[in-house]
Amino acid sequence: MRLLSLQVQDFRNLPAVQLAPSPHATIAVGQNGQGKTNLLEALYFLATLKPLRAGRLSELVRWGASAARVTGRFLLKGAEREISVEVGGGTRQALVDGKKASSLEDYFGGVSVVAFTPDDLEVIKGGPDARRAFLDRAVFNRFPAFLKESREYARALKNRNRLLRDGATVDAAYLDAYDETLARSGARLYARRRALMAELAPRAQ
Ligand SMILES: Nc1ncnc2c1ncn2[C@@H]1O[C@H](COP(=O)(O)OP(=O)(O)OP(=O)(O)O)[C@@H](O)[C@H]1O
Ligand SMILES: [Mg+2]
Repeated sequence: MRLLSLQVQDFRNLPAVQLAPSPHATIAVGQNGQGKTNLLEALYFLATLKPLRAGRLSELVRWGASAARVTGRFLLKGAEREISVEVGGGTRQALVDGKKASSLEDYFGGVSVVAFTPDDLEVIKGGPDARRAFLDRAVFNRFPAFLKESREYARALKNRNRLLRDGATVDAAYLDAYDETLARSGARLYARRRALMAELAPRAQ
């Protein structure tokens, strides 16, 4: 995969940037607060649809602007494809070659990014949550079907926890049904994580 061009509009403090990165390495140099990290964040957001730093999507839109847009043209397995993401009015829209993406799998289609920031030290220094989230992002890049499975697990976990919080009023049969879903989707999640760990471990060692 290679990024051929990147276009950023009204993303954070960047009103309009057009960039054709080098096929080798590209280094962004500038004053403090000029927008270097914002530029990397725009690229990260394009490739993951998740903000690198922001809690809320609206933080990504340049102050005073109504929407932000990031577009990238990629060379992927010999073919060019263009993906865009727009943020405005609290929603996010993903586009493939100018048309609304039919699914997230269609949108990502092999585009991937690795970000390393000081916050990534949390993977080592922090709790297991950060490690699981880190691993799950990698698993998703490797096995796109994982997105659906991990959502299923998260939904079952949330519903089951809500039932448990409701305490005495809960019918045990109800809980059993959630246990089963949770166990089934949890086992799939676990197997995916293990498979990726087995692939990574020799290199990490
Ligand atoms: N939504 C937004 N609209 C306008 N400006 C924003 C927005 N969000 C952040 N900024 C501005 O972006 C600037 C920070 O940019 P960024 O973090 O990319 O700088 P940097 O070039 O990486 O600087 P440093 O060298 O200090 O790391 C700040 O001035 C901040 O106020
Ligand atoms: Mg910075």
